[in-house]
Amino acid sequence: MRLDKLIASQGKYSRTDVKKLIKQGLIVVNGKTATTSDEKVDPDSAEVVINGEPFIYKEHIYIMLNKPEGVVSATDDKVHKTVLDLVPPELFRDGLFPAGRLDADTTGFVLITDDGDFAHKILSPKNHVEKTYIAELADSISEEDILKLESGITLKDGYECLPSKIKLLGEKIIEIKICEGKYHQIKRMIGATNNRVLSLKRVQIGALPLDIDLRPGNCREITQEELGEITTKNGTYFYAE
Ligand code: URA
Repeated sequence: MRLDKLIASQGKYSRTDVKKLIKQGLIVVNGKTATTSDEKVDPDSAEVVINGEPFIYKEHIYIMLNKPEGVVSATDDKVHKTVLDLVPPELFRDGLFPAGRLDADTTGFVLITDDGDFAHKILSPKNHVEKTYIAELADSISEEDILKLESGITLKDGYECLPSKIKLLGEKIIEIKICEGKYHQIKRMIGATNNRVLSLKRVQIGALPLDIDLRPGNCREITQEELGEITTKNGTYFYAE
């Protein structure tokens, strides 16, 4: 890969920045000061140092955002703030998108990445990657309704949902795990029991919980280890591929 392309792909520096840094003699590749931006480098093995700092190449980035209310899960919106607007410059790069959408009034864990294959893997219902939410309801929920939700409730438009897992956390608060992501899915599931969601927060994707130290509106990079936790738990895969 061209040196300028490699460095610019990580977001922090543009190709123009790279040109300037090379002119200033501030980029060293495999021990030699770089002289041209079109020098070919191997992304996996090249040792690149920029202004004295080792440059670490990552093909993809995975970001955990604690989405606050009022922010839309889109890459671009003329009116509202988007989840991408909350990504700090040091994590930002081209091609980022939210892997799965939360409604504007839903809060919690949004995974932002530039890895389309990974997004597909965690979003496809057939892979059974559970998304865990805490829902506060308008009315208490009956055993019968829980059973309906757990066995796959039929929405008012006739759509048959996949089975979900419910834990009663309070009279009107439930933990609900689903592995599909239809429009307003949980609100419509709860609506089908003649109840209403008052607030909804996503607290976990697969086995990876939202970092409790991450304040609403803040992002942090997901580590490689944590990435594995999305689809495995204690070494056991809990999605079917
Ligand atoms: N289900 C909903 O109804 N809304 C969300 O944002 C996520 C799941």
